[in-house]
Amino acid sequence: MYPREILMVSRQHGLSTSAALAAASAVPFANAAAPRNIVISSANGLIACARAMQMLKAGHDTLDAVVAGVNLVELDPEDDSVGYGGLPNEEGVVELDACVMHGPTRRCGSVASIRGIKTPSKIAKLVMEQTHHVMLAGEGALRFAKAWGYKEEDLLTEKSRLAWLVWKQSLRDKSGHNNWTGGTGASVKKPSVALREAFPDVDEAMLGYALDRAMNPITGTINCLGLNAKGEISGVTSTSGLSWKIPGRVGDSPIIGAGLFVDQEVGGAGSTGRGEENIRIAGAHTIVENMRHGMTPKEAVLDALKRVARNYDNDPVRLAAFDIHFYALRMDGEYAGGTLWSSGKKLFAVNDGAPQSRLEPCVTLLDNRPKTN
Ligand code: GLY
Repeated sequence: MYPREILMVSRQHGLSTSAALAAASAVPFANAAAPRNIVISSANGLIACARAMQMLKAGHDTLDAVVAGVNLVELDPEDDSVGYGGLPNEEGVVELDACVMHGPTRRCGSVASIRGIKTPSKIAKLVMEQTHHVMLAGEGALRFAKAWGYKEEDLLTEKSRLAWLVWKQSLRDKSGHNNWTGGTGASVKKPSVALREAFPDVDEAMLGYALDRAMNPITGTINCLGLNAKGEISGVTSTSGLSWKIPGRVGDSPIIGAGLFVDQEVGGAGSTGRGEENIRIAGAHTIVENMRHGMTPKEAVLDALKRVARNYDNDPVRLAAFDIHFYALRMDGEYAGGTLWSSGKKLFAVNDGAPQSRLEPCVTLLDNRPKTN
């Protein structure tokens, strides 16, 4: 058993949940500053925040703004965790999850396991706008998108197809499925001779990328939250989910209350990273409710992270197998990003009016992540 004392909670936030609630409830945010234009997202959303901010300044609706921002990332073939170019399932098919929430009208929409559509967040918005449903999945979601004029396309890029082939060639689980329960953190300096021979025309850097992804399946995602100066807030989350997943696996991203939650009276929250752990704590809803009851965004995301850790009895060895990140934006414009491990993705994107977005540090819950290989 890993020594208990290794599980070090970062000093910056040693506050227990109840202490934080008690302390925070003395300072209700309702008395805080007036709302302002502000957009935050996961670190892969610098461009999304900038685009959304442009639209907020031009007076567009908050949901239109954040979805337009996220569309840029969904359409970017270089982001292998979202939309076009996202890493596929174990059969080499890209399956996408997304959801949206519109604060002013308190509506939401979602698609799960949709194939063939580059911008699933737009389809989630269509579900919200054009149906009385909240979530469409799989084949039905695709048919709905096509009925509204969307073209079914191949979402694999040369890069994502190669990563899948490398995974299939050498690394998939003996059961034939990806039953991955955590990153291996494994790294090799050079592809093996056998792998080199299997892909003779692929350059070294590209093969190295593919091998890294094959060994370390990802759950990258984009979450983006936007607030305007009128005090309206909306959010969107979009992902290609866990790479090499069993077809049909749905993560947290399309689940209202897990991958995203927005309440016009309080604020919004979202998540990226290991979706299964987020679903278990209904993370986004938990964070918004924490803020409703007086926690600051920082305290609220830390509380969510503590709930994730508690589900593993705070055991660092089992927690080391994954990472998870939360984002929160309160109605007064105060915001935070939080991440489980201080050694992981420690930044999130913010735009409060500048032409370019910036990265800011996340609060982190745990230090000294044990090695898993
Ligand atoms: N957070 C993305 C996923 O787990 O699918």
